[in-house]
Amino acid sequence: MIFIAAFSLLPGYAQAGAVHIATKLQCMACHAGSDRFVHDPEIGKVRNVAIDMGAFRQGDHAETHCLECHTEGFDVFPHVHMKTYTCMDCHPREGEHAADDEPYEFHRIRKEFEGTVHFTEYKNEKEKCCGTKPTAAAQQAGGAALSTNDKQRFTCEQCHDPHYFKTTARIERAQLIMKNDNKSCLRCHTDDATGPLADPAEPSMVAAHAYLPHEELHLETTRCVDCHSSVKATVAHDLPEGKGADQGCNSCHSINSVLMERLYRYEPPPVRTLGFHNAPMLPDSYIMGAHRHRAMDWATYVLVGVSILLILLHSGLRLAARRRRMQRAWRSMNEDLSNPGGAR
Ligand code: HEC
Ligand code: HEC
Ligand code: HEC
Ligand code: HEC
Ligand code: HEC
Ligand code: HEC
Ligand code: HEC
Repeated sequence: MIFIAAFSLLPGYAQAGAVHIATKLQCMACHAGSDRFVHDPEIGKVRNVAIDMGAFRQGDHAETHCLECHTEGFDVFPHVHMKTYTCMDCHPREGEHAADDEPYEFHRIRKEFEGTVHFTEYKNEKEKCCGTKPTAAAQQAGGAALSTNDKQRFTCEQCHDPHYFKTTARIERAQLIMKNDNKSCLRCHTDDATGPLADPAEPSMVAAHAYLPHEELHLETTRCVDCHSSVKATVAHDLPEGKGADQGCNSCHSINSVLMERLYRYEPPPVRTLGFHNAPMLPDSYIMGAHRHRAMDWATYVLVGVSILLILLHSGLRLAARRRRMQRAWRSMNEDLSNPGGAR
């Protein structure tokens, strides 16, 4: 109440703005912090309903009010008849901000995602929480929603937490992007993953990637989606099945490495390239094939060239010497023939 009074006293502060802030403070009173455990009778487990406000303010929706997404049933407690908007309810935005959203191609992303096993296997399950209703398309395709405690529908929010979502351009550094993007996959795909939708690999992640040399190194130093989505697009949301994820070692280990177009697309160029191709990736790792050195390339060409020349010269000289030897032998044979018995 003190806050509301203080804000409405500020000159020029619109009443609506003050209400906005006041309701957000209400939400925060019960939800801000690192841990807010509540018992959820529906899943019969304790769960954390805390929002890390520090991380929220760093995200792309920092300016979006809780109630813009949590549209119905949250202004009262206990919350009732809840309705919450998900990514595709608001995006791509229309009107004034349409141009901001265009580059992300939200409709393509959705189409690709809805073709993956992540979506198709769980489209009939219940939403995770708070009235995030199935899309019309999913309902049409699926019929009545099943409800089991451990299964839930797979939505964009399984990988992109709406509270903390940050675009790749704003994360900028490749190593941080990799950590950010792998974190969601690893929540469900580590060897000992548990919980709703967990899919621990059988018998292990390393075994599942046995086709690779240095599989552990690859799992630690590369981004899952740089193999597990079609490498043709910069941001792809499909999931090629099984061996389809192996799109060739050359996709990374070559001068035209896709890593430059994808993971490293916002990495600022290093001050000095030291003559290497794909220099922005060099501070993080040395990737065979991608990190060729221009001077070394030239040195190699020159060395190979000189070697070939030397070989040619050597063979030429040997040929000439052989001809001279043959001519000499021929001459002495002729002399012997024209001078039988010898000229003593
Ligand atoms: C008096 C404390 C209190 C206030 C104020 C409050 N909440 Fe909650 N909220 C809770 C508790 C406790 C739960 C967990 C039990 C439940 O699901 O009802 C919860 C659950 C939630 C959930 C998850 C619901 C689900 O089905 O899993 C959301 C989302 C939520 N609150 C959003 C908000 C928003 C947005 C506001 C501000 C408008 C708000 N809350 C205000 C206490 C509060
Ligand atoms: C951009 C939209 C958006 C904004 C802004 C937003 N939320 Fe949410 N929130 C969601 C969605 C969507 C879910 C459900 C996620 C899911 O089903 O996986 C959710 C879930 C929650 C939950 C339940 C968490 C859980 O693990 O069960 C709480 C609590 C919550 N929000 C509180 C808040 C509060 C407090 C604010 C404001 C500070 C806020 N939200 C702002 C979209 C939003
Ligand atoms: C309530 C509607 C709403 C929901 C739900 C929502 N967003 Fe947003 N989103 C916005 C608004 C409004 C902005 C602009 C924020 C700003 O500029 O302060 C935004 C910004 C963004 C941006 C940055 C756009 C730019 O121009 O840089 C991206 C990307 C984005 N959202 C993706 C998502 C994703 C992914 C989800 C689901 C996890 C989601 N949004 C859910 C309303 C929403
Ligand atoms: C299986 C996990 C997963 C799911 C599900 C998922 N995404 Fe993504 N999404 C990612 C990853 C990983 C990236 C980062 C790709 C990149 O930047 O190269 C990403 C990137 C994005 C971006 C930002 C691109 C940029 O340039 O910053 C948007 C917007 C987005 N996703 C929207 C969505 C929407 C909308 C859905 C649901 C229809 C969705 N995603 C479902 C994993 C997922
Ligand atoms: C919320 C948990 C969750 C998240 C997050 C998640 N997955 Fe999955 N994933 C699953 C489940 C469950 C399956 C099994 C689907 C089925 O039943 O076929 C699966 C299946 C897969 C498969 C297919 C395996 C096969 O049998 O061929 C691949 C590949 C995969 N996920 C990669 C990823 C990648 C890459 C990411 C991150 C961008 C990711 N997943 C994020 C839960 C998750
Ligand atoms: C260098 C490319 C590459 C990288 C990086 C990579 N994968 Fe894979 N992954 C593959 C290929 C190819 C297969 C299929 C192997 C086969 O069928 O023999 C596979 C298989 C899988 C499977 C299916 C396992 C099963 O049999 O159930 C999952 C799940 C998976 N990967 C998740 C991930 C996750 C999560 C990451 C990131 C930590 C990741 N992968 C990184 C190429 C890659
Ligand atoms: C998604 C990109 C990507 C793909 C696809 C990929 N690699 Fe790699 N590879 C890397 C990265 C990144 C490293 C780690 C470099 C480092 O940090 O030392 C690496 C390291 C290696 C190394 C170790 C080299 C060294 O100097 O330590 C070998 C060998 C290798 N890869 C072979 C392969 C083979 C063979 C394939 C195809 C079956 C393949 N890679 C596919 C990205 C990739």
